[in-house]
Amino acid sequence: MATSKPYRVAVIGGDGIGPEVTRAALAVVEAAGVELATTHFDLGAARYLRDGFVLDDETLEALRGHDAILLGAVGPAIGDTRIPGGVLERGLLLRMRFGLDLYVNYRPFHGVPGSIADGLDFAIVRENTEGPYAGEGGVLRYGTAHEVATQGSVNTRFGVERCVRYAFERAAQLERPRLTLVHKTNVLTFAGNLWSRVVDEVKSEYPTVAVDYNHVDAACIYLVENPARYGVIVTDNLFGDILSDLAGAVSGGIGFAASANLNPARTGASLFEPVHGAAHDIVGTETANPLAAVSSAVLMLEHLGEFDAARRIAAAVADFERDGVTGGTAAVTQRLIERL
Ligand code: IPM
Ligand code: MN
Repeated sequence: MATSKPYRVAVIGGDGIGPEVTRAALAVVEAAGVELATTHFDLGAARYLRDGFVLDDETLEALRGHDAILLGAVGPAIGDTRIPGGVLERGLLLRMRFGLDLYVNYRPFHGVPGSIADGLDFAIVRENTEGPYAGEGGVLRYGTAHEVATQGSVNTRFGVERCVRYAFERAAQLERPRLTLVHKTNVLTFAGNLWSRVVDEVKSEYPTVAVDYNHVDAACIYLVENPARYGVIVTDNLFGDILSDLAGAVSGGIGFAASANLNPARTGASLFEPVHGAAHDIVGTETANPLAAVSSAVLMLEHLGEFDAARRIAAAVADFERDGVTGGTAAVTQRLIERL
């Protein structure tokens, strides 16, 4: 899909602090001189509670036609049980990931000063359309003493390979090119074997990239004890979900963690969102850290080819990470804009 200026960006502010941090990210992008034509989509928990709408084909197609999608956060407040688990996750977030074929979830981590990963730079490339998220499985004899629940993991040669290739492309660009496959090949032998073989095959095309393998449980230890060993981690959907929260914690908190749900083949709009959630408890208190959303917008600008603006915003964010984030959401945003 060809992109041209002004970029047409679909904005899903969503719930809780989502709209606050999205507004901040948009203001920073504009201040960096990148013109956006935004269309706001009212989606998420609030919308669902108001009129029962989650996402339909028409809205999905409208999203697909944009150059990018910027999302704040989606979800009800903790303890609010009015929305059954899965309605928004599967019906909205995963439907966009699957429907727009956002097959890579790219999550870069820059250890902020003082964090366990201080000064480090590593990224998780998470397969984003398959694995246990695919939804294979079902329930028999629901609610009885003989209930059966199965939840399969779908791993296709095609899906694994395109994700692994993306990870190698990223790894090859590093100053010290290295890639670690994270899985559980000793127990999940069918899927693990496929992932291992694909990595082994693709690596011959990337002779500069040092390749190794960690079991996912060991990776949890290394991420805390020796995160410097990682350049790019490539892993399946569920392992990547869990590891990226851990990576966020060791690199300074998920208040900084950005993510890109990418369709590298560009057959649909890619989606950019902070890793953090809606944090309803701090809505309107000016305490939401906008840096994760701003960094997600940086990933969006890179995807759009606006490398100069992306680099300038990333440098301003890095200043904040070094000096510490003090002040409210609007004040931090204003100071970011001034540093540009
Ligand atoms: C994430 C989130 C989602 C996921 C949820 C909200 C469906 O935790 O983006 O990491 O599990 O992928
Ligand atoms: Mn997650």
